[in-house]
Amino acid sequence: ISYHWTFDSIRDPACERCNLGHLNGELRCLTGVGPQDAELMIIGEAPGAREVQPDVRRPFAGPIGQYLDRILENLDLPRESLFITNVICCHPPQDSDPTPDQISACRGFLEAQILAVKPKRIMALGGFALTALTGRKGITKYRGKPFILNLDGVPPIEVFASFHPSYIRRTPKDYPLLFTDLFRFKGSPSVKPPQEYIPITDMTYLRKMIRELLKSPEISYDYETESLNPYKGDRMVCIGLSPREGKAYCVPLET
Ligand code: URA
Repeated sequence: ISYHWTFDSIRDPACERCNLGHLNGELRCLTGVGPQDAELMIIGEAPGAREVQPDVRRPFAGPIGQYLDRILENLDLPRESLFITNVICCHPPQDSDPTPDQISACRGFLEAQILAVKPKRIMALGGFALTALTGRKGITKYRGKPFILNLDGVPPIEVFASFHPSYIRRTPKDYPLLFTDLFRFKGSPSVKPPQEYIPITDMTYLRKMIRELLKSPEISYDYETESLNPYKGDRMVCIGLSPREGKAYCVPLET
C-alpha cells in the first residue's frame, strides 16, 4: 500500500472547493499519512509550508511536527503507528488560520479519511480540529473531555481534544496538559492497573501533591525533556512524581 494511499484514493485533482487549491500548484493538497488500520488518529489544523514540499509531503513534518515527535517519543507512542492528518489539506498562505469555507470545503476529505481508517480514538489538536470534529468551540474548556463521534458505517469513535503543539511550544507551562491528554488518548493495555496522570495546573494541586508525596514511603520520579538525547541541549519541560504504581503528577518546570 502506498505511503500516500489516502491521497491516491480520495484526492480530486480538479478540486475548486475553496480558494487554496490553485496556490499549491501541482500538488494541490496533502492528506493524511499512516497505516490503514491505525487505531489512533491525530488531526491537526493545516499543513505548513514544509509539509507540502514535493520531497516531504507529510503532515506535521516541519518544526511543530518535530516538537510533536519529541512529545510522542516521551510517551513511547511510535509515530509510525498513528494516522496523522489535518482539518484542511492545503497550506494556507502566510500560515493564516483556516477559514470556515476552507474547512467545510475539506470536510468530505476529512470524513473520507476517518471512514477509511476507522480509528478507535482520535486526538484533535487545537481549536480548529475540536470544532471540525465536535462542533464545540473553546479548546481550554473542552480539552481533556472525551466525546463520541458517530459516523455512518463505522463504530462510534472516541474523540479527545487538546492544545495544538504550536501553542504549547509558545506556552511551556501548559505542556503537562497536552502530555496528559495524549497519555489518555494513547490508552493503556488492559492488564495494567488504572492509570491516573494528573497535570499540576495551580498551587492547590501542587500543595495536594506535596502532601500526598510526603505521606508516601517511597516516590519515583522522571524528567520529561524535549528530546531523549541529553546532549542536544533541549529544555527540560516537566518532572513526573509518583507516590505509587498507577498514579503520577506532572509538574511543569516553566511558568
Ligand atoms: N503541521 C501540520 O501538518 N499540521 C498542523 O496543524 C501544524 C503543522
